[in-house]
Parts: sequence; C-alpha cells; structure tokens
Amino acid sequence: MDRMKNKTILITGAARGIGKATAQLLLAEGAQVALTDIDTEHLRDTMHQLGTDNALYAKADVTQLSEISAVVDETLETFGKIDGVFCNAGIGGAAHFFWEYPPAAFACVIEVNLMGVLYTMQAAMPSLMKQGGSILITSSIAGLAGMPKGAAYSASKHAVVGLAKSAAVEAARYGVRVNTIHPGPVETDMVRLLETAINPQDAAKGKERLKDAIPMRRYATAEEIAHLALFLLSDESRYITGAEYRIDGGMQAV
Ligand SMILES: NC(=O)c1ccc[n+]([C@@H]2O[C@H](COP(=O)([O-])OP(=O)(O)OC[C@H]3O[C@@H](n4cnc5c(N)ncnc54)[C@H](O)[C@@H]3O)[C@@H](O)[C@H]2O)c1
Repeated sequence: MDRMKNKTILITGAARGIGKATAQLLLAEGAQVALTDIDTEHLRDTMHQLGTDNALYAKADVTQLSEISAVVDETLETFGKIDGVFCNAGIGGAAHFFWEYPPAAFACVIEVNLMGVLYTMQAAMPSLMKQGGSILITSSIAGLAGMPKGAAYSASKHAVVGLAKSAAVEAARYGVRVNTIHPGPVETDMVRLLETAINPQDAAKGKERLKDAIPMRRYATAEEIAHLALFLLSDESRYITGAEYRIDGGMQAV
C-alpha cells in the first residue's frame, strides 16, 4: 500500500486510459499525483472519480511548453516537490501509406508524441534534479518495429527512445532515471483507431485480426500497464535507467 509514500508524480494524458489507471494505482500506493491533459472535461470527471485530496488537476497541451511549465509550477506550489514524471500523453494520428502521408498531419503526430515529451521533461527537470527522480515515457511496440500505415506514429515512438536514452546518460549524475515502456494493444479509446485502420469497413474484424497476432489472444488492460509504470516510477527500479520495457502479451516475441 505504501510503495509510493511521500512521492509526487506528474502524469500527462491523465484524463483517461493508461494515464488514469496509473493515477489510480499510484494514489492507492500512497503517492500524490498531478494530473494533466488537453481534455478538460474528461480530466475533471477523472478527478471527481478519484475523490481525493492527494491529487490536483490542470489543463495543459503538452505541445505548449508554457502550459506544461505552469502545471509543474502548480504542482510544486501544492505538493512542494516532484519525484517523477509520466510522459504518457499521445495521439495515434491518421492512417496513410508514407508516400501519401500529409506532411502537416505527420508533423502534428511528431509535435505531440515527441516534442510534447521533450517539453514535459524540460519543464520538470529543474525540480527533479534537486532530489533525483524518475521520468517514464509511454512509447509503444511501434517504437521498436514498423507499423503499416502508421509511419508518423512509429517514427514518433522510436524517437522518444533516442530521447530517453540520451536523457538517461545526461541525467544519471543528478539521480534522475529515464525509461520507456512499450505496450502492445491496450483496451483504451486509442486502440479503436487502430482497429478501424486495420479494417475500415468492419472494426470488429480489425479487432479480431489484431488479437490473433497476440500470443495471449487479448489486449492488455490499462491497469496492467499501470503496474509496470508503478514499478518504474518507484524506488524499486532505482538501478534501471535508459531501458526499454516491452509489455505486449508476447506480440513481438514471435
Ligand atoms: N492504447 C494502445 O493500444 C496503446 C499502445 C501502445 C502505446 N500507447 C500509448 O499510450 C499512451 C496513452 O494512450 P491511451 O491508450 O491511454 O490512449 P487515450 O487516447 O485513452 O489517452 C491519451 C490521452 O492523451 C491526451 N492527449 C492527447 N493529446 C494531448 C496533448 N496535446 N496534450 C495533453 N494531452 C493530450 C488525450 O486527451 C487522452 O486523454 C499514448 O502515448 C499512446 O500512444 C497506447
């Protein structure tokens, strides 16, 4: 129950899915959490569901350094320090072959999934450096292998691995660790886009095809991803940095 006692963790993309499940688990383990997302309505609902004094929420678009910096400041004012940051906000982007991918749409995915992670890390680092901490980034199995019709997403999720490894080397002397997690399909709103991309006429068939590619024959739950995030944000992983954690039911083991 106390694996995160006295820890304050900032989570982006916290309104739903993996971010929300991680917030719930961290709170149950004694943490204080700062929740941020671009979607104020869902963020507010999530906050009400959590029903705790150990959380704050504030809207921020991760592509705006000033907005994410303001959330960091609010977190410091409220809880006094930041021990960990879960850079989790992300978008899937549209499905196109790379030769047809509209450059503006491609750049938009990079802006959220790569630059948004960089801005979040930059905003939090001065505070993390003071007492050490953990930065965790949600990449994807698409950050370890290609993804048909998902070049923008896959490029952005590969890019954060390079960012994380470079940051891990630079930040180690300050006691700050940086790691990536690589989920396969997870039962959240985002996976619906993938199912539709696989079979635009029949998303249910897209889902079946996706499940057939997973040796465990099911998607992960957001809670299962949250348990890995908990470990990597906690001191239990204190010697782990610059590492990639695949969590995919064996999908990339074959
Ligand atoms: N669901 C999957 O199958 C899957 C698989 C691998 C990796 N991921 C990654 O997991 C992370 C979380 O996704 P999820 O599955 O919980 O999806 P989700 O769509 O349920 O949640 C993503 C959250 O990010 C927020 N967000 C999007 N753009 C933002 C921005 N510019 N600023 C702030 N917040 C923003 C959304 O509002 C949303 O609440 C993402 O980075 C995603 O790429 C998901």
